[in-house]
Amino acid sequence: MRGITAFVIGNGCGSARPPTPRGSLVMSADALTIRPATPADSTGLDELLAASYATLLAGHYDAETLSRALAPMSRANPRLIDSGTYYVAEICGTATEASAAQPAARLVACGGWTAEQPGTGTAAPGEAHIRHFATRPDWIGRGVGTRLLAHCINEAAALGRTTLTCFSTLNAAPFYRRSGFVTLGPLDVTLTPGVIFPAILMRRTG
Ligand SMILES: CC(C)(COP(=O)(O)OP(=O)(O)OC[C@H]1O[C@@H](n2cnc3c(N)ncnc32)[C@H](O)[C@@H]1OP(=O)(O)O)[C@@H](O)C(=O)NCCC(=O)NCCS
Repeated sequence: MRGITAFVIGNGCGSARPPTPRGSLVMSADALTIRPATPADSTGLDELLAASYATLLAGHYDAETLSRALAPMSRANPRLIDSGTYYVAEICGTATEASAAQPAARLVACGGWTAEQPGTGTAAPGEAHIRHFATRPDWIGRGVGTRLLAHCINEAAALGRTTLTCFSTLNAAPFYRRSGFVTLGPLDVTLTPGVIFPAILMRRTG
């Protein structure tokens, strides 16, 4: 399976890309670029989130829980996109013929962080929250999610936020554990009124 071999600081996939919001870092690796999401990514993000969650959560949640949760979980969050700290990994250049023909399919993964806690919107000094990570099913296991997560951890730390919290899906706990998160316990997340989603509260310090 192909993995990412190197990352450099670059200017994104090409001149047709929208300008980087708030001057944030853009990273490139082989045929992949990690850059902040923009409102133009909304449709592609909806598709990516829907494909990822519907496929990869199926073995870990019962059908009824999943059917109620998928709609709210699979919508790109406009406030996250506007945060400047929510990222997409996309295929660059001519990596695939299909991606050139279908621009929305270029996104292979997404994820970010905010100072504000999801749900409450409150922020505490030194703390940050990992938000809405997903990798397209045909791209899992290639290290893209880990690289996105490392970028978030490093960026938050550079801004003095070294305690990271994550509401992990039941399936993603080993992924976060590999990057230094520990399990604090089960957590019921209210996605929308009446839609409760079992998750795992995880934390990483330092
Ligand atoms: C959790 C998730 C984001 C991880 O994304 P990913 O891009 O697959 O992450 P990585 O590739 O970095 O690591 C995942 C696995 O690939 C392995 N891996 C990492 N780099 C690799 C490489 N170069 N080659 C092969 N395997 C690799 C990791 O060891 C890990 O192994 P595992 O299968 O035992 O878990 C992804 O599985 C996903 O989208 N899940 C569904 C949505 C979800 O639950 N999101 C979390 C919300 S809290």
